[in-house]
Amino acid sequence: MRRILAFTFFALLAALCLVAAGRAWDAQVLGDAVRGGRIYDNWIVVVGRQAPATNHPLWDTQESNRRSGAVTWLCTECHGWDYKGADGAYGVFSTHYTGFIGTLGVVGASQQDVLSWFNGTRNTSHDFTAYFDAVDVMDLVAFLRTRQIDTNLLIDRFTGRSLGDPQQGSGLYESTCASCHGDDGAEINFGTLQDPLYLADMAVVDPWRSVHKIRFGTPLSAAMPAAEDLGWSLTRVADVLAYAQTLQRGNPSLRPFSAVATGPVLESQGNIVPLVWASAILLLIVLAGVAYDYYQRHSPQPGPRKTPNGSGQAKNGKTNHKH
Ligand code: HEC
Ligand code: HEC
Repeated sequence: MRRILAFTFFALLAALCLVAAGRAWDAQVLGDAVRGGRIYDNWIVVVGRQAPATNHPLWDTQESNRRSGAVTWLCTECHGWDYKGADGAYGVFSTHYTGFIGTLGVVGASQQDVLSWFNGTRNTSHDFTAYFDAVDVMDLVAFLRTRQIDTNLLIDRFTGRSLGDPQQGSGLYESTCASCHGDDGAEINFGTLQDPLYLADMAVVDPWRSVHKIRFGTPLSAAMPAAEDLGWSLTRVADVLAYAQTLQRGNPSLRPFSAVATGPVLESQGNIVPLVWASAILLLIVLAGVAYDYYQRHSPQPGPRKTPNGSGQAKNGKTNHKH
């Protein structure tokens, strides 16, 4: 009897330890999340594998974004640089609009859960096993689980303006960025000789993309540091972005990219939603009033007035009404 008890006790203890170890394993973040951020940026360059010449299978489930080929295989083209998909800078007003969801939904999900999006378990059309090895997926999942942020913390989503402090940013820029991008940000030309685009153009036109590049570096240059590796706070990232937005422009006529399609109406477009709701609610109230009125007029008259023998009227002294 004692032996059985002792055995049961140890078996239970072992099971508990296993469960705890499993939890700890799941809670552990495996992989290099900063490299994962660069895979999200452009996996074709980072993992060094070719994308098929055909469109991504999910791409043709939408018709708004007419781009084609390799770009349709990039995480950013479908999910956005702000990780918000159609709910963010790639909304209906953007030429990048696809209607696809963002990736912020997997923040807080388990390793296994997020992994299941890349091996065909969740959606066979979203299977990347042919392109990623185990390390690539591990890094990407680490990024998705632990480094995604709500970019509204750093950027005004209507104007694209950084919410950081350019004064603070200028010192950071001088010490960390100027050696490559130049004091005025014009040392590296992102455009062409005829149509130059400097750091300030990139930072103003697509600040969401700039924030991702500042935090994770760029797949195009292993030498550019990643703020996430430097241990920078998001405040510092916003500050340096704010300063970058004040530097020399190559093409000052370019506006924040999500405003490009619709011009300055973007903001009023954003604000129209509450108006539409308010009008709809007002209309409902009016309709309800009309319906109530109609009901009042056409419903059978209540009790006393209707009683044929007048007993009810006698009760409330309205007999003199009747002649
Ligand atoms: C062609 C467009 C496209 C590309 C490219 C693409 N995805 Fe997706 N992704 C989708 C769609 C559409 C869904 C939703 C599918 C569904 O609901 O079954 C999705 C779902 C997801 C989800 C789940 C989101 C949630 O909240 O549940 C994650 C995470 C994700 N994708 C990450 C990525 C990453 C990382 C890459 C790049 C390696 C990538 N995707 C490439 C279109 C794409
Ligand atoms: C070692 C040199 C180097 C340093 C230091 C450096 N960068 Fe870069 N940066 C580059 C190169 C190279 C590119 C890619 C150029 C290209 O796309 O043609 C780049 C790209 C970028 C981009 C991407 C623009 C876009 O939208 O494609 C941004 C934003 C940027 N850098 C900001 C910064 C900031 C801010 C700092 C300082 C925190 C910094 N860089 C430090 C070399 C550097």
